[in-house]
Amino acid sequence: MNNTTVRFATSSQWLHWIMAVLILLMLFVGVIMVTSMTNYYWLFGLHRSVGTLVLFLALLRLANRLWFPPPKLPSEMPRWERRVAALSEYSMYALMIVMPLVGWGMLSAARYPIVIFGSISLPFILPHDLKWYSVLHASHTVLAYVFFAMVLAHFGAVMLHTIVYRDGLLFRMLSLPVRGVGPLKAIDLKADSAILENDPSQKVNHV
Ligand code: HEM
Ligand code: HEM
Repeated sequence: MNNTTVRFATSSQWLHWIMAVLILLMLFVGVIMVTSMTNYYWLFGLHRSVGTLVLFLALLRLANRLWFPPPKLPSEMPRWERRVAALSEYSMYALMIVMPLVGWGMLSAARYPIVIFGSISLPFILPHDLKWYSVLHASHTVLAYVFFAMVLAHFGAVMLHTIVYRDGLLFRMLSLPVRGVGPLKAIDLKADSAILENDPSQKVNHV
């Protein structure tokens, strides 16, 4: 079978996988840090630095997504599922931006020095107010668990499509050859001429 597919732009793929690693690291470092007596300070330093990097990359990724719109989901996918997928993507974008801002805001409200990468001092973004600190601290914790649940659901959905439905969904986000992955139903030949026009390298031949 010789087939043609549309994938996410190369820049979208790089941003997706780099950020997936960083966000998972943030979630685990966050939980380990708050329960660690001996490694708290260096883990907290890492958490602030990587968290701020996540904020920067999330803004870059938002601009990238506007520049390279994502390929349309396969037309065989039920409409409700496409809506849920879109909603979960928007929510994850919101969390990638809101989580670091809430962390930054919480430390600002506590007047805790926000030093990242060992020497860069970030400005305070909120007035000194301990009530705000405690509200933002609780929000940061709740949002972290919501984020974790969303990432798990996202991973589960992609795996369900790729392994059970065998529609090749995973390979829309990977520049790997896709021999033997099944019928690749996810590939919508008419989808997204926009991506192909902007990034012709995303046109791939399958055997
Ligand atoms: C994507 C970005 C981020 C994620 C996923 C994340 C995740 C987490 C998690 C899972 C916790 C532990 C929550 C708990 O069990 O109570 C935590 C705590 C915390 N995070 Fe973040 N965080 C992010 C960004 C940031 C940033 C940018 C800052 C500050 C500049 C920050 C400051 C804090 C603080 C102050 C705590 C509480 C520490 C403590 O109670 O001793 N976070 N974060
Ligand atoms: C912290 C972890 C993750 C986050 C925050 C995340 C977030 C996202 C977002 C926002 C999108 C929409 C496309 C974009 O604008 O980039 C997306 C797409 C995608 N993600 Fe993730 N992701 C994560 C982890 C993973 C993992 C572990 C997998 C592996 C199964 C995965 C596989 C995919 C695939 C295949 C798509 C494309 C879906 C489609 O074809 O529409 N993601 N992800």
